[in-house]
Amino acid sequence: MRSHAEIELTEEVPFQVMKGTWQPVANSAELPPGKIISYRLFDIDIVVARFPSGLMAAEDSCPHKGARLSRGHLCGEELQCPYHGWRFNVTGECTNIPSLIDPPKDKLRLSHLRHFPIQERYGMIWVQMEPDPSVRLPDVPEFEDPAWTYLVGPPTSFKAGFRREIENYLDMTHFAFAHSTTLGQAASPTVPDMDISLHADGFQMDAPFPALESPHEQPGKLMSAHHRRQRCFLPNFTTIRQTFADGDERVLVHIPSPNTGTDCTCFWALAVSPGFNGPPPQDQLQFAIKVLDEDRIMCENQMPREVPINPSRGGWGVLVTPGDTLANTFQKSFRRYLLDRLAVKVNGTG
Ligand code: FES
Ligand SMILES: [Fe+2]
Repeated sequence: MRSHAEIELTEEVPFQVMKGTWQPVANSAELPPGKIISYRLFDIDIVVARFPSGLMAAEDSCPHKGARLSRGHLCGEELQCPYHGWRFNVTGECTNIPSLIDPPKDKLRLSHLRHFPIQERYGMIWVQMEPDPSVRLPDVPEFEDPAWTYLVGPPTSFKAGFRREIENYLDMTHFAFAHSTTLGQAASPTVPDMDISLHADGFQMDAPFPALESPHEQPGKLMSAHHRRQRCFLPNFTTIRQTFADGDERVLVHIPSPNTGTDCTCFWALAVSPGFNGPPPQDQLQFAIKVLDEDRIMCENQMPREVPINPSRGGWGVLVTPGDTLANTFQKSFRRYLLDRLAVKVNGTG
């Protein structure tokens, strides 16, 4: 039995472990019936299609000669490869090889697509590259409560690793600098007292959030003092709940879906409580797009492009307390999360 201390964490481990988690690959609205898209997840190109009977995700490489199936098209209930016209159904079975008059059963069986579990929830399409029925998406009741206004933002590509995005999302000391033109200057650059609790599936941070001094009239309420609760469901699903003095609330989520070791696509959404007394939800979404773009620029400015998995300069070896405490909590919890799952793989038990 090998202990955590004996298991080495290398830069490859995060993707090995995370292939068993659900990751967003598209907003539902981007994939109407009959549409086919390509997406790179964990360095693997996948094809995602909406058949009349449902969704399908598979490796974006035809079993015949490797042509990109995402360049093909849907013919009813079949996805047709653009090169020699092989066809596949929604479960990835090869249903037709046109160059064979009567395809033998064994040939068809060998031609099965490598396909992945797929589901649709929260206005997004999610893929799990290694099937694990025990892994579920976190529940966020507000996102499915018809009394709330739920809006899904445009997925935003970052030329930065997903852990850079998570650190940015958790970070409360960059507002006055990186967002000085949108969120405004912090009345005080110090971090409020944070209450951090660890959970089996991640961690939570609660803090009173101070008012920001806005340079203009942009959605003023969003900068007013509020209670902030950040809940990270490992590995990369993080919500922020803002509760204002009048009881109004907003819940945001960011899920930076890893494309490669140094690129991610941030999927995100916003839920606004019923009767929110402030900017209309659509304006809040537009405002969040601007703020996210400022974050993207900061993340893309960092070197190296991904936070090293082990402590080091430029990663999480040089920390200030309490400013980086939450980022540090993420890095430590993420390492523990990886080690726990590696131990299961190595030892065959928890
Ligand atoms: S490469 Fe797809 S049918 Fe030949
Ligand atoms: Fe930010």
